[in-house]
Amino acid sequence: MKKTILTLLLSFYSVLAFSAGSGYPLDKIETDPSDKPSLQRGAALYQNYCSGCHSTEFQRYERVADDLGIPHDLMMENLVFNKDAKIGDLMTNAMAKEDAKVWFGAAPPDLTMVARVRGDDWVYTYLKTFYEDPKRPWGVNNKVFPDVGMPHVLAELQGVQLDSCNGEDPTKRDPLTGQTICGLTVDPERKGSMTPAEYDQAMYDLVNFLAYSAEPMKAQRQQLGIYVMLFLVLLFIFTFLLKREYWKDVH
Ligand code: HEC
Repeated sequence: MKKTILTLLLSFYSVLAFSAGSGYPLDKIETDPSDKPSLQRGAALYQNYCSGCHSTEFQRYERVADDLGIPHDLMMENLVFNKDAKIGDLMTNAMAKEDAKVWFGAAPPDLTMVARVRGDDWVYTYLKTFYEDPKRPWGVNNKVFPDVGMPHVLAELQGVQLDSCNGEDPTKRDPLTGQTICGLTVDPERKGSMTPAEYDQAMYDLVNFLAYSAEPMKAQRQQLGIYVMLFLVLLFIFTFLLKREYWKDVH
């Protein structure tokens, strides 16, 4: 019986752990909507490296500035590159969908909800698993989104990754050392400006921002949850005292 439950649990886990489709194992992260410095760094990365192609058009600059604690003038000066945009505008993008299709084979989708649709782990792993592939138009491919139309726009930060697997299973481990046998590594000849640890942190911040964007009320909701619990505890104390009062004469 115990074994059956364990098998069931493990098979469920493997469903969770592998991305839909590609079968590549996903790196797990726990996003934190209350970590404002991380969200601010993520917003800066997003505006600098992603907003040229993607929109987050269900979100306004003003709301992001207010939620993340960024003063409006700093937001407009440093994070909004469309000089005609106003603080109250939606975070749209001027690239025509038809042009984008010709350039990339697919239009860059709106990213407001992507963290909800794909999951935080998927987006995080996606941003970390671009690797060199001369057969693709941009010279890169992606492990969780095979044959993706997006170029590796963060190569200057991460460097160029090489795939040492050649189709082998990336989760396979050496039985003696327990180390994975193959995987993605940055080419020592073409390093980026960040170390792998710094790049991981930057991608965490970026996904944290996209997760916030998909669910801007999450931080408030969690805080409200705490107040509700405190209220219920207080209510319980008073109800209990009241009950004692009522039953005092009966016993
Ligand atoms: C040069 C244009 C360009 C830039 C810059 C760019 N992307 Fe993309 N992105 C694309 C295109 C094109 C696609 C669609 C690829 C496809 O469908 O094959 C895409 C797809 C994606 C997807 C997959 C969406 C889905 O659910 O299918 C994610 C996530 C994504 N981009 C995130 C980012 C992030 C984060 C950045 C900033 C670091 C960024 N992109 C910068 C062009 C771009």
